[in-house]
Amino acid sequence: MDTTVYVPAGDPAPAPDGSGRAVRARDLTKTYGRGEAVVRALDGVDVDFEQGRFTAIMGPSGSGKSTLMHLLAGLDSATGGQAFLGQTEITGLGDKALTRLRRDRVGFVFQQFNLLPMFTAEQNITLPVELAGGRVDQAWLATLVETLGLSGRLTHRPGELSGGQQQRVAIARALIAQPEVVFADEPTGNLDSRSGAEVLSFLRRSVRELGRTIIMVTHDPSAAAYADRVVLIADGRIAGDISDPTPESAMAGLDALRTLEPAVTTGTSTRTGA
Ligand SMILES: Nc1ncnc2c1ncn2[C@@H]1O[C@H](COP(=O)(O)OP(=O)(O)OP(=O)(O)O)[C@@H](O)[C@H]1O
Ligand SMILES: [Mg+2]
Repeated sequence: MDTTVYVPAGDPAPAPDGSGRAVRARDLTKTYGRGEAVVRALDGVDVDFEQGRFTAIMGPSGSGKSTLMHLLAGLDSATGGQAFLGQTEITGLGDKALTRLRRDRVGFVFQQFNLLPMFTAEQNITLPVELAGGRVDQAWLATLVETLGLSGRLTHRPGELSGGQQQRVAIARALIAQPEVVFADEPTGNLDSRSGAEVLSFLRRSVRELGRTIIMVTHDPSAAAYADRVVLIADGRIAGDISDPTPESAMAGLDALRTLEPAVTTGTSTRTGA
């Protein structure tokens, strides 16, 4: 099948020249609970994500990574501040508009693939488009299947696929409607390192070769090294930014966050001496 229509040679992703902001957060705040029990999951986040780039978000457990992604994808509402998808202020939208935005403009990949077991790989990929009453773009489907190495697997059900293959199906599903941004929350968290590496290569290819924009949460510095940039988050705030990360620089960035955190270890505050 001719897939070159969507992957024209010499026409890579738009250059990250600062003009194309896919996603922006301005003083974005999210609190859970109230009074004594209040949790500031996000505490005034300002961050931009460029079009055609692959960005990893890293930070300690509980630092607000998933909360940030959910707010940016319109899956949850902010307590304060603004989030933008392209020119649209997500934080200003009502329920109906948010549902449309999630359906038409963003894709999401979860740690546990969330595929429907009764449907084939192909049906899982195309279902969102069909449910939305749209027409599946067959050429784009072919490009995704080819890029994600899923040819020959399309008639298989999820139970007949490896974890890595299932996650690649989930990625194709997230990309099928050509969303402006794909958010992935620890997409390799349930995969062994080989399948994880496979999935990360495909995510990177879909940015480099298909011009997509991907924002991915990961705990793993070697996963983060597949990205063009790492944004570090700690205690609900942006705490660092690394371009062209390597496993070493991503690890060093994470370590720097840990040393910033107050050392709250059992026993040290009540016991004196060893
Ligand atoms: N629905 C909720 N109700 C109350 N508190 C919540 C809720 N969701 C998240 N939190 C709290 O908000 C903070 C940020 O959570 P979040 O899930 O964004 O962290 P994370 O960085 O994704 O962590 P992990 O790496 O463990 O997935 C945490 O303290 C968490 O306990
Ligand atoms: Mg999380």
